[in-house]
Amino acid sequence: MPESDGTVTVRTLAAMKKRGERITMLTAYDFPTAQLLDRAGIDCLLVGDSLGMVVQGHKTTVPVTLEQMIYHGEMVVRGSQRSMVIVDLPFPVGQVSVPHTLESAARIMKETQCHAVKMEGGHQQSDAIRAMVDAGIPTIAHIGLRPQSVHALGGYRVQKDADRLMRDALAAQGAGAFAVLIECVPAELAREVTEKLSVPTIGIGAGAACDGQVLVTNDMLGWNSGYIPKFVRQFADLKTMAADAVVTYRDRVRDGNFPGPKETF
Ligand code: KIV
Repeated sequence: MPESDGTVTVRTLAAMKKRGERITMLTAYDFPTAQLLDRAGIDCLLVGDSLGMVVQGHKTTVPVTLEQMIYHGEMVVRGSQRSMVIVDLPFPVGQVSVPHTLESAARIMKETQCHAVKMEGGHQQSDAIRAMVDAGIPTIAHIGLRPQSVHALGGYRVQKDADRLMRDALAAQGAGAFAVLIECVPAELAREVTEKLSVPTIGIGAGAACDGQVLVTNDMLGWNSGYIPKFVRQFADLKTMAADAVVTYRDRVRDGNFPGPKETF
């Protein structure tokens, strides 16, 4: 349930966990998508650096810059009235130094006017999380599979180190993170973390026991190209619909049917 003015805040999410209400999160990278998700009642819009892959066509999220995150973050904030907007810190922000992380996160908050940031990391990044939280920047920690570390991990693999997952989750919560996003871990591990933490967990490829779920919107709408992970459920097939429409447009232009009298001044 949102606040009395309808907006979703960190307090809303904490209360939802207490009440056992599932939190919904989807990615958004532009104004129309943000409007669509906001009006559909999605609690949190994540301006994920996955935009590097699904929008820019890169193989990983690594090339995405701070300026690009700000550019997309601004659009999403403009399209959202009720949902909480969270913007990703791109690689290598969060991994270099605490002052650099803090400055970058502050730029994102100030220039996009989003409500929170997300950072990949847990135990090793707990000083940076604490510094952001102390500066009034709500922070969600992304643990388990961290896509920015794909080269170090040797690929996008299920993360099975239970001790590391729990240590990262507890460190992030201890540093003040308002939530923990868990990617691509066995469902049982995510359940243990969810039961142990007092802050909400948001899962992606982490089973049904998390306090909330997130997906890349392009994946769940079938508006994507390339590899679709096992954890994605496709709720629509927009790519096929759009391809059919484009082919029909092409044919109607070629056969002189478009524009017709109704589309002509
Ligand atoms: O960048 C992103 O969109 C993400 C999600 C996959 C959780 O981090």
